[in-house]
Amino acid sequence: MKTIDDLEVAGRRVFVRADLNVPLDGGTITDDGRIRAAVPTITRLAEAGARVIVASHLGRPKGAPDPAFTLAPVATRLGELLGKTVAFAADTVGGAAQAIVEHLADGDVALLENLRFSPGETSKDDAERGAFADRLARLADLYVGDGFGAVHRKHASVYDLPARLPHAAGGLIATEVGVLRRLTEEVSRPYAVVLGGAKVSDKLGVIGHLLERADRILIGGGMAYTFLAAQGHEVGDSLLQEDQIPAVRDYLREGEQRGVEFVLPVDVRAAKDFPDLRTKAVVESEVLAADAIPAGLQGLDIGPRTQELYAARLADTATVFWNGPMGVFEHPSFAEGTRALAQALVDSSAFTVVGGGDSAAAVRILGFDEAGFGHISTGGGASLEYLEGKALPGLQALED
Ligand code: 3PG
Repeated sequence: MKTIDDLEVAGRRVFVRADLNVPLDGGTITDDGRIRAAVPTITRLAEAGARVIVASHLGRPKGAPDPAFTLAPVATRLGELLGKTVAFAADTVGGAAQAIVEHLADGDVALLENLRFSPGETSKDDAERGAFADRLARLADLYVGDGFGAVHRKHASVYDLPARLPHAAGGLIATEVGVLRRLTEEVSRPYAVVLGGAKVSDKLGVIGHLLERADRILIGGGMAYTFLAAQGHEVGDSLLQEDQIPAVRDYLREGEQRGVEFVLPVDVRAAKDFPDLRTKAVVESEVLAADAIPAGLQGLDIGPRTQELYAARLADTATVFWNGPMGVFEHPSFAEGTRALAQALVDSSAFTVVGGGDSAAAVRILGFDEAGFGHISTGGGASLEYLEGKALPGLQALED
């Protein structure tokens, strides 16, 4: 894979595919981690005299302009972080983008509007994606792939465009891939993986793969209830994916055979209803044994004994990968489990990796210093698919 050092960028138009898909509350960015992660590559290119055209998706609009998903607030934040004006183009391949690109001077930076406002970006049809990539290619002379969070998507700007321009990987992709290698090919043991988040179905593939690699798998979040149910426990009104129970049982059995320890919650914090994340009104909740959640109550966080247990099972590890919150961390009544887990990572001397998405946002929103972790990935789904051993289109496309 070439890096930007292999490209002659001075005076050239360089298309940078970043992942600036940040969480928004209305027009307010609630976690700018992905924008900050994109800055070093953009800065290097601009300082080397490139005319930098940054592009990204935001959210999942339906192939047409939708003001709820505009990248305009991201352009403002990117400008603040770069310390220079970022020209914002109100489209991607239309007149606005062309005019802005034409007027870029060496060292200038522009951001295009949301790539997913065009149906060609995400199309399953190769020709439609290719046609959109052709139009994007006309804007630039060179391509730099640096949107690690999107490399698992076979999308026009991620997969088809690099085939049309001389290309290289940006610094963020190089760093992320280097870290993931330390979780797959060059692992220091004991290696523990902590998985949380709502759906067990999203994580089944990665669990299957991790059974061949990890020494310990700790489970939290909404997906823990399917594991508890698979062990025959009552989970009351907790989130449950009944159809996944057989697969989970198979994994628990396989874990036993392979000597991979599954660690499940021993207690949970439960409430009658799912909390209101808008008002964040205090909710009455209670701590229950994880094998005795009655009907009418739902587990929404791991309990205090589980927090201690998980910290203890992480204390002697050499490598930890964590993906997915332990509970509804967005609500103060159910954030303690995720906070305690993040603290356990900070306290451990292991190489700790926080795998993107919600867990990366959680550690920042809960006020942790990023320096306390070995690496906070910008890719949620992308890191998981890498760990699953899948070929990632956005990385394949950057191979020479
Ligand atoms: C992410 O948030 O994981 C990436 O930005 C990819 O977004 P997507 O899941 O909407 O493709």
